[in-house]
Amino acid sequence: MPDSVPQTSSGYRERDANQQRDATPRSTSTLVHMLCTIGAGVVFDAAAFQEAACWRRYNFVSTAMHLLILGATGPCGLLLIQEALEADHTVVAYVRSPQKLTEPIKSNPAVTIVEGQLTDRSALQQALSGVDAVLSALGPPVRSGITYPLNTPLAQAYTLLIELMKEKEIKRLIALGTPSMKDEHDKFSLVFRTLVTGVATFAHGAYKDVVAIGEVIRNQGDALSWTIVRVPFLVDNPSKEIIAGYIGDGKVTIKLSRAGFAAFCLKQLQSDDWANKAPLVSLP
Ligand SMILES: NC(=O)c1ccc[n+]([C@@H]2O[C@H](COP(=O)([O-])OP(=O)(O)OC[C@H]3O[C@@H](n4cnc5c(N)ncnc54)[C@H](OP(=O)(O)O)[C@@H]3O)[C@@H](O)[C@H]2O)c1
Repeated sequence: MPDSVPQTSSGYRERDANQQRDATPRSTSTLVHMLCTIGAGVVFDAAAFQEAACWRRYNFVSTAMHLLILGATGPCGLLLIQEALEADHTVVAYVRSPQKLTEPIKSNPAVTIVEGQLTDRSALQQALSGVDAVLSALGPPVRSGITYPLNTPLAQAYTLLIELMKEKEIKRLIALGTPSMKDEHDKFSLVFRTLVTGVATFAHGAYKDVVAIGEVIRNQGDALSWTIVRVPFLVDNPSKEIIAGYIGDGKVTIKLSRAGFAAFCLKQLQSDDWANKAPLVSLP
């Protein structure tokens, strides 16, 4: 998609605006003609109906976007791709292990797969070309435990990503986070405190990286419209029902379906309600 296409405040481009201007006058008169014809009880004009249907199809502003998806090979990332395709977006999956993508995703013409490491500046730069928004399901593998490196590799990746997003004037970033990232709106919750303490103790490298990701997004994402989607325990439940709030608010729970995570992320592309915020998203 050309970079010159105008962008709205939430980052998406109004692709069909010109098409709409061209199509409206001719087809509006066709529609009026058709209505008059029917109203007058004259024979139904099928050609006019077809053209009017065409007018209806083009007389809207498309919100389809070109999305970069990171962490696309994990269960959450795969659902992000699926949800994005269902919403008619096109996707660039920037991955280090393309073999983990499913066959339907690999063969979908709306998906471009770019193989690369998160440290590879030029490959990432390339993958960001023409992108309207970035969705990320990146996170330390849960099973890594004490073996996870202490040098915050994912926070470093976000530093580079945000630098390149600013360079390319890509504004919207929606990233997976966890309760280890504190937020000023959180209140005390014994369950969440115990969970975070457990992670900080037994998976210290992962904890350190997740906290650092939150700091990088908040501190370096000043020119962006970011949302950190903090997830509790993830479950494979098809329910997309979610509640978004804050730890200790008496509403959020300790489980979220991966499908709910993906649906919530995609919804944020059309809304600034959670811009520059880090809600805890859970099953109701
Ligand atoms: N399971 C839970 O209950 C739970 C709870 C809270 C938070 N989380 C977080 O949620 C995240 C997403 O969940 P998920 O189920 O989709 O998990 P996942 O299988 O761990 O997926 C993580 C994704 O991040 C990618 N990734 C991780 N480190 C990377 C690196 N250094 N370079 C490039 N890619 C990297 C992985 O790529 P590869 O496939 O190439 O490895 C994968 O695509 C988890 O990573 C975890 O941190 C999970």
